[in-house]
Amino acid sequence: MELIADRDPEEARQLLGPVVEHMCEAVAQYGGTVSEVMGDGIMGLFGAPLAAEDHAVRACHAALSMQDLVRHYGDDIQRSHGIPIQMRVGLSSGEAVLGMNTHGLHASYTAIGLPVHIASRMEQMAKPGTVLATADTVRLAAAHIEVKTIGPLMVKGLDRSIEVSEIRRAATTRSRFDTAPVRTMSRFVGRRAELERLMETFSRASGKPAGSALAIVGEAGMGKSRLVYEFLRTLAGRSILALDGGGAPFGSGAGYRPGPHMLRQYFNILDTDQVVAMQEKVAGRIVALGGSAASIVYPVLFVLGALPEDNPFLALSADERRQQVVEALMWLARRVAANHPLVLVYEDMQWVTSDTKNFVERLIGDVPRSTLVVLTYRSDYDARWIEAAGTLELQLEGISPAAAAELLSALVGDDPSLDGLKEELPRRSGGNPLFIEEHVRSMIDSGELQGTPGHYRLARPLGAGEIPPTVRAVLEARIDRLGRPDKQVLQELATVGDTASVDVLVRITDMPADELRKSLRRLQTAGMLIERTEGGQLAYEFKHSLMQAVAYETLLHGRRRELHLRILEALADGAQVDVLARHAVLGEAWRQALTYLWRAGKMATEQFAEAEAVACYERALEVFTRLPPEKQSLEAAIDLRFDMRNALVPLGRQLRNLEVLREAETLAAKRGDDRRLAQALSSLANCYGNIGRSDRALDAAERSLALAEKVGETGLLAIGALSAGETHRTLGNYREASEHLSRVVALIEPGDARRLQGQVGLPAVRARSHLAWSLAELGDFDHARTVAEEGLHIADASEHAYSISHACLGLGGTRVRQGEFQAAISILARGLATSERIPLLRPPIAADLGLSYARCGNVTEGLSHLHAAIDHAKSMSRLSRLPLIIVKCGEIHLLAGEWSDASRLAEDALALAVEQNERGNAAYARYLLAEIHSAAKDIETTQTEREYVEVLAAAVDLEMKPLVARCRASLGALYLRGRRREEAQGHVTAARTMLRGMAMRYWLDKLETEVANAG
Ligand SMILES: Nc1ncnc2c1ncn2[C@@H]1O[C@H](COP(=O)(O)OP(=O)(O)OP(=O)(O)O)[C@@H](O)[C@H]1O
Ligand SMILES: [Mg+2]
Repeated sequence: MELIADRDPEEARQLLGPVVEHMCEAVAQYGGTVSEVMGDGIMGLFGAPLAAEDHAVRACHAALSMQDLVRHYGDDIQRSHGIPIQMRVGLSSGEAVLGMNTHGLHASYTAIGLPVHIASRMEQMAKPGTVLATADTVRLAAAHIEVKTIGPLMVKGLDRSIEVSEIRRAATTRSRFDTAPVRTMSRFVGRRAELERLMETFSRASGKPAGSALAIVGEAGMGKSRLVYEFLRTLAGRSILALDGGGAPFGSGAGYRPGPHMLRQYFNILDTDQVVAMQEKVAGRIVALGGSAASIVYPVLFVLGALPEDNPFLALSADERRQQVVEALMWLARRVAANHPLVLVYEDMQWVTSDTKNFVERLIGDVPRSTLVVLTYRSDYDARWIEAAGTLELQLEGISPAAAAELLSALVGDDPSLDGLKEELPRRSGGNPLFIEEHVRSMIDSGELQGTPGHYRLARPLGAGEIPPTVRAVLEARIDRLGRPDKQVLQELATVGDTASVDVLVRITDMPADELRKSLRRLQTAGMLIERTEGGQLAYEFKHSLMQAVAYETLLHGRRRELHLRILEALADGAQVDVLARHAVLGEAWRQALTYLWRAGKMATEQFAEAEAVACYERALEVFTRLPPEKQSLEAAIDLRFDMRNALVPLGRQLRNLEVLREAETLAAKRGDDRRLAQALSSLANCYGNIGRSDRALDAAERSLALAEKVGETGLLAIGALSAGETHRTLGNYREASEHLSRVVALIEPGDARRLQGQVGLPAVRARSHLAWSLAELGDFDHARTVAEEGLHIADASEHAYSISHACLGLGGTRVRQGEFQAAISILARGLATSERIPLLRPPIAADLGLSYARCGNVTEGLSHLHAAIDHAKSMSRLSRLPLIIVKCGEIHLLAGEWSDASRLAEDALALAVEQNERGNAAYARYLLAEIHSAAKDIETTQTEREYVEVLAAAVDLEMKPLVARCRASLGALYLRGRRREEAQGHVTAARTMLRGMAMRYWLDKLETEVANAG
């Protein structure tokens, strides 16, 4: 220790006293023994007198912790006395002779031998503030520490040089067990069958073209994370790459993202790495694997938060980014697994963010070769999506009574007084290891167990009913037994979250900083907290998430509120917005809560997660009502709902969207705000349209358009006319629809075509798709195709996934209506791929794609698309134009000769179309029925004939030229088959001319075949 020599010895003693105390404390904390105190220095022993396998690891942790404690203390002294205090530590490992001196009841030890000599030389050679260690120590502790090699050094009194390294810090976090001080881990017991199952699943996956996914399921504290850890330890040393996302602590709530953590492991990114270093590491390795910058490096850096601000990737739409990230990660997994067997661990699925969930869902649906994906989640989590992917499941029940007894022996020893406890606890705990560990600690805290680790005895007989019934109760009892200040600190930390920096804790507590630090250290020694550094700051984390939950629950409402408010103040504005939002809500700071929740919702919509966005908006709406009436701005209330709509629409959550929009409508009317009212009505029109209420949709669209005319703003006119056009199309008024939609196209200046105007899809694109379909129904295919191609062009330039999918459907749907099925397939397949995360658009795309496959000969594939489309649309209550989708399904069944299925579907479609007043689609359903009857020979021709004539009249009425042509072709064929040549002639000729004129080659060929067959 360095202390200015010319100090008054009394003052020096006063200043040094606490330093020595801190040093001894650190040794004790890691289970070491202080063998000697020599003025300003101490000698600590690890692994003696009690053996410990991991003595070197403990010694390194103690040395680092010692430096940390003294550094804090030194800073204080530097400030108060102007004296720098620094300390050196030297470590060495090897055999030493231990001398024991007994003084009455106490014993002390002296170690003698080479390692002792070398350790003290290391200490002398270390620079102040550092830890030097010999190669022996470094080798033993390698996995747990980061070192800087110094090289061979000559040591006084030795005739050879020895390898020396500086211990820099604990190793970068791999899992939470790795950062846990070794002493918090109990001896691993039981679970042999489970480990075998994991190993076996792994062996079966490695080398195979398809990997496996396995989920470990169990209650809190059952040992899921520990099992994973032991499994990974078994694999260590083999040529296997294991990436472990680590466990989510409770406070991370629904915001846990293991992905970045795993990428950091893979790319070997250290906490201290600057952004440039991260970029180099990532780019270097990906290029070596053959990946490109734009498609792999950028998305990966994006996940790591290490993209430069001007990177083109950041200019992409959120959907595009999301998709590219998923693709890049899948590529990476496949590429990596091609070199080594790969194990990917995603823990705590109950808490992951929806982007993580999306990726994991994709991953377990298509596990790369030689890969094992291990998931863990708690038993009460709704994991249907995991089961649906065919994931194997490993249910963790309690450990066996024998294993529990073994665990207890390791924790408390084998004193005969413990027999009763060993009998009782395994039974009461249900074999939950956390329960057992915590209960033992609780008994040690209370003095019921006396002795030293591994050697306890029961101080008084175990009373009946003294073992609490649940893990929760065990933890409650432990917290209750803490001294007042420690309990307070634990509760304060629990209110901050799973982890809190000492810095923040100092700012929110009333306790003197010194007291707080001591208390934190006591809690750490008691095994409740784990110390770690976070962004260079000392922080504490709960050892187990349940402990945080229980500690938080012991707080009274008023106290909680007060603490959240203080935390809110203590956190910098740069803190994560969802964290700020949580504290503002719980602190009942409603205005701030609204601001943060709204911001969080917008960020979530922009980034990855509409579902989280909706959750934020729901809470924001609730918070809004808590504001005092004079602060409740109507404007904000409406805009909040518009932003919420943007998250609800892509999710296909029609009914909730309807409610939200209706409220927006009422509020806008109340405010006399024509602009917002027009916007609300146009959105309402879309929403009513989607759920099949075209009557209401039309009314809303017309009112929106009228208001837009009144306000006279182009943007409003465009969205009003778009809604009107879309609704008329649904109703079968194709002529009117195309007039409105052409107006939209004309209204949006080319320069504005790529502006969303607050909508979910680009109005310039949506208008073109609807216009193209309307024109196609009217038989103007050339014009339709030009417009649809324009739409796709605009969408491509915007790189906006929703718009691209819409435009693909626009063009693909136009081709399908013309009968160009082969050409439609690639366009629609692209649309389906792009819409992966846009539920709303998938059913119609899948339906057109399915029909195209079937018409090109692939009936099975076609049907599977159609069935998925119908189920999906129904599950979202997306009823608008569903009749047409059902008709397409019926058409395929008819192609397959399955008449009864076909006719059931046609009847369903007809009923729904009539109910929803979709006249065009009703005509299609009737046409399908007639086709079925015409194909089924046992049905009377006159009835079928009548059906065709009726459809023909309706189609003429609606100006649906392609349907008119198909009807006449069918009638012609029917007459030909009935040898009524004269009647056939007129229809055949007319159909031929029309089909040729509209370039409907598929149907023309079909007609010619019929004519030829009739001879
Ligand atoms: N087989 C075992 N032998 C010894 N100790 C165990 C065993 N299984 C678990 N433990 C210990 O029990 C405690 C709880 O285990 P763990 O954290 O793995 O639970 P978990 O199931 O992951 O809980 P959560 O759902 O909260 O994540 C840990 O301290 C762990 O070391
Ligand atoms: Mg766990």
